[in-house]
Amino acid sequence: MTASAAQLLDLSSWSHRLSAEVLGPGDLAVDLTAGRGHDCLHLARCVASDRCGTVLAFDIQEEAIASSLALLHAAGLPAERICRPQQIGPHGNFLAALSHERLELFLPRQPKVVLANLGYLPGGDHRTATGTASSLRTAQDALAALLPGGRLLLVSYTGHPGGLEEYQGLQHHLATLSPRNWQVLELRPLGRSNAPVLLVAEKRAPRL
Ligand SMILES: C[S@@+](CC[C@H](N)C(=O)[O-])C[C@H]1O[C@@H](n2cnc3c(N)ncnc32)[C@H](O)[C@@H]1O
Repeated sequence: MTASAAQLLDLSSWSHRLSAEVLGPGDLAVDLTAGRGHDCLHLARCVASDRCGTVLAFDIQEEAIASSLALLHAAGLPAERICRPQQIGPHGNFLAALSHERLELFLPRQPKVVLANLGYLPGGDHRTATGTASSLRTAQDALAALLPGGRLLLVSYTGHPGGLEEYQGLQHHLATLSPRNWQVLELRPLGRSNAPVLLVAEKRAPRL
């Protein structure tokens, strides 16, 4: 497969493109599942977290927080571990070893992007994966919190136990959002069983 063909089907890369489109320096972006830090790093660059923007990230595994901090530091970006919302400074990358269900409590202001790469930690314990009920609750909180013009992006994997149910729960909820207030998109490779899916919801700006 050529590099461009591989990238066409890489939904993480689509989530990066679709978040970069709406993010700018100074914005707040949230990574609900920090994992190895690749999404955090992307968001950190989009919001210029070294100068003015902020990334807030969660992960329930210490290993993931440590990996993400190391990746951000290796890229020369400021990144710190936090355990309370009061520790979030005016700009930078703030990582909490907590469930993304704490999102509402930790948000310092309205985010422009909330991104989640669901499932389990690559190279880690496959039994510690995101779950249907908690992902759905947090997705609902994220939709309520987004700035107008902001996007929720969910990369969902269906091949591991519980993955299909999680995707179906999220997809069903996003499909019920009013087209007056939301633009919703589902992106998936065709002809491949168990391929990941990218769900995107963009909050429309209020009509004048
Ligand atoms: C596919 S990985 C994330 C990949 C990551 N965004 C990256 O760029 O490398 C999924 C992560 O979700 C985390 N996770 C599972 N349940 C969670 C929860 N309730 N809150 C936050 N993170 C969770 C796992 O520990 C795992 O690290």
